[in-house]
Amino acid sequence: MASDATPDARGEIGRRAPGPDGLPAVGNLHRYLRDPLGFVERCAEEYGDVVATNVGTADSHMLVHPEHVERVLVTEDHRFRKAELGQGRLEPLFGNGLVVSDGEYWRRQRTRMQPAFRPDRIATYAEIMGERAAATAEEWERGETIDVTEEMRRLTLSVLVRSLFGTDLGALEAEIREAFTMAMGRFEGANMWLPGWLPTPANRRFERGRERLDEIVSALIESRRETAADRDDLLSTLLVAEDERGEGMSDEGVRDEVVTLLAAGHDTTALALTYAWHLLGTNPDAAARLREELDALDGEPPTLADLSDLEYTGAVVSEALRLYPPTHATAREPTEDVTFDGYVVPAGEPVFLPQWIVHRDGRWWDDPESFRPERWLDDDPDRPEYAYFPFGGGPRHCLGHRFATVEAQVVLATLAPRWDLEPLASELSLRPVITLRPTEPVEAIVCEP
Ligand code: HEM
Repeated sequence: MASDATPDARGEIGRRAPGPDGLPAVGNLHRYLRDPLGFVERCAEEYGDVVATNVGTADSHMLVHPEHVERVLVTEDHRFRKAELGQGRLEPLFGNGLVVSDGEYWRRQRTRMQPAFRPDRIATYAEIMGERAAATAEEWERGETIDVTEEMRRLTLSVLVRSLFGTDLGALEAEIREAFTMAMGRFEGANMWLPGWLPTPANRRFERGRERLDEIVSALIESRRETAADRDDLLSTLLVAEDERGEGMSDEGVRDEVVTLLAAGHDTTALALTYAWHLLGTNPDAAARLREELDALDGEPPTLADLSDLEYTGAVVSEALRLYPPTHATAREPTEDVTFDGYVVPAGEPVFLPQWIVHRDGRWWDDPESFRPERWLDDDPDRPEYAYFPFGGGPRHCLGHRFATVEAQVVLATLAPRWDLEPLASELSLRPVITLRPTEPVEAIVCEP
């Protein structure tokens, strides 16, 4: 632990940041587990922009000023690496995929995968998104009660599966969804903090889910290699992807990236859509304004080109991501001591950048707790850039950020003219797991607008 006056690697003198006193060995883990969002909110309120939060066995810090966020993710990103704490837990599922890998291997994989997310590819994926959303609109029936998150998960997974494999996988799609649900239980509540080798029910389910997912994805890669078909889908792009030395990926490398894309891509976007529906359902004026804009589409799904005219639809998505960022915090680990506002964060101690706090900070947002999509229609030139970072920032910003925003807009623009989702509960109860998730099913009645 740093003493009261320690020069960092650049000679800046820093003290230990203030924060709540913790218990030996577990720090503030007990407080965090009881009410995670309340705990980080109280920390920011009581201790300011740099807080020694100390959750779990390792000391840790939370930084809530947009300038600090920018330093960690962008301008001084070379002084940080992905936090081992998070990576170690994700590695069993994601292997060495892009979310987990680091250093030279990460850089080469990122170069190889970038072409799969170019604007011309996104236009093709937007067609799939529109087609899948229109199919969902057909399936819903007036008066039925749906679990919004489950419906959105089914939709986003089917979009991703078709974008990745270029085809409908039939029953395999439901198996992939089931395998993910089994694996994700490992990251919920106290399970997240228990070692993976303990034979707990959550760990055993995780293993079964992971193995099934491995089998399915490996078989799909093998059959594609065998047919050597060069198709217009994401998997083909990954199979022919080369780094700057002209080297391609191993089958294991492709497997890890496919599982990473499936995991990083479907749950996050499904949650963003769940929250957007909830906000529209509880703000009828905004829903009416959205539908008015969507009249121009004449009941057809929008193309990628249409989206630039749908400003309010874009604003609804941005505002939903501000209030309920599916990635509620981004973590890093300094590789050397780094000083923020005179407080030192020692090398190796994780720092958390909580979107949940920064996106609702009254210093940068008027009426921060309210859903006001129109705030996105006139730019606020005084707001610091990193007061909003739902997709992270810097070299490791979300590879799928365009895919996700296009998908959220296309899904809302296709479904909202046809259906209104009337929420059964006016409040959301949330828990930050890896993503920010509802603790109870978010149910709604399907109504005609
Ligand atoms: C609303 C939906 C989404 C949100 C909020 C989101 C958020 C994020 C954030 C914050 C990061 C950076 C993490 C960090 O810096 O540690 C990230 C990384 C990543 N995301 Fe997303 N994401 C979303 C959708 C997607 C989609 C649709 C895909 C792919 C189809 C995707 C693929 C990735 C990948 C591969 C990375 C790792 C990038 C790297 O480290 O080079 N994400 N995402």
